[in-house]
Amino acid sequence: MKIHKVLVTICSFISLIAVFTLSGSAVVESAELNEPIQPLKPRQDLNLEKVNLGKLLFNDKRLSGDNSISCASCHDINKGGVDQLPVSKGVGDASGLINTPTVLNSSLNFRQFWDGRASSLEEQIDGPIHMKHEMNTDWPSILNKLKQDQSYVDSFNKVYKNGLQADNIKDVISEYERSLITPSRFDRYLQGQKDAITENEIKGYELFKRYGCVACHQGVNIGGNMYQLFGVMGDYFKDRGNINDSDLGHFNVSKNEQDRHKFKVPSLRNIALTAPYFHDGSAKTLRDAVKIMAKYQLGRTMPEKDEELIIQFLQSLSGELPAQAKGEKQ
Ligand code: HEC
Ligand code: HEC
Repeated sequence: MKIHKVLVTICSFISLIAVFTLSGSAVVESAELNEPIQPLKPRQDLNLEKVNLGKLLFNDKRLSGDNSISCASCHDINKGGVDQLPVSKGVGDASGLINTPTVLNSSLNFRQFWDGRASSLEEQIDGPIHMKHEMNTDWPSILNKLKQDQSYVDSFNKVYKNGLQADNIKDVISEYERSLITPSRFDRYLQGQKDAITENEIKGYELFKRYGCVACHQGVNIGGNMYQLFGVMGDYFKDRGNINDSDLGHFNVSKNEQDRHKFKVPSLRNIALTAPYFHDGSAKTLRDAVKIMAKYQLGRTMPEKDEELIIQFLQSLSGELPAQAKGEKQ
């Protein structure tokens, strides 16, 4: 009898703990909703046949005029989805005009390109294909080459009624890009696992919010959901000099004077992997980029200690690629 009573007491004690833990996690969930950054979750609804076909094409050099470069040449999936150059290099080593942004998580951005001129991933692809200093080709030439490859012809016939077509190539490449989602330790922290990031990284996140970085770099992609002026609190472009067309930002798209030097706020996911920084590739290190942001976007000089903590927070945003998405270096 006594043993039974003890067991009952232990049992009710355990269920009490369970209730507390449950209500505890409910509190965490609602706190998560109040955060300006939401956790990243991999897409579960993708067509894997398309993803795999898209991965092949993303790595296929026949998508360039002289068969020398692929999408992956500039967007190396194993290097944060970038080329790590100040400005890109296309066919014949032609120098580009602007820094290569990452393709990782780019499906979450409200528009594509620094100036937001493409409204979808599908539309974005026409850019590099036709640019002289990028892939320098056109769809008829690409289709000519790829139609000689029986395995592509067969695979596209399997997935699409109208087989190998430019629109279907864009569709599979975009589906592959939608698979490039990289949850990180920070996302586990947002989901309630308080020890997923270090105490310094938590302090860095608090500072990121307190200084106001989060007014622009926010949402699930920690950026990518609005345009903002580069140089809110100081004239970045006058101080840097040598202004060119790529510096005009969204003005190039809208021709509206108020959009001059406005850019899509870039995502800060995987930011520790994608130096150099800014559309002009002018900031060599994350520290340089944070200093410039504090000065020109917030009008602040940051103590080195705060700068260091924010950098540590930014490093916690390097994520993991899903297994099927990993790219081959071209
Ligand atoms: C020669 C290097 C180069 C090649 C090749 C290249 N890109 Fe890019 N990519 C860039 C540069 C540079 C930009 C930014 C251009 C701009 O914003 O004006 C960019 C932008 C993008 C973006 C927009 C990301 C964002 O957040 O705005 C996506 C997506 C993308 N490229 C995918 C591709 C795909 C798919 C291919 C192959 C069909 C490709 N790229 C080929 C250099 C390249
Ligand atoms: C008023 C909006 C705004 C605020 C506030 C802001 N940023 Fe930015 N951030 C931008 C824009 C716009 C860019 C793109 C600038 C460009 O290259 O044209 C950018 C770029 C960056 C980049 C480089 C991204 C890349 O891919 O090259 C980093 C890193 C960055 N911001 C970090 C921060 C940090 C840290 C803070 C707070 C100290 C901050 N930002 C505050 C708007 C903002």
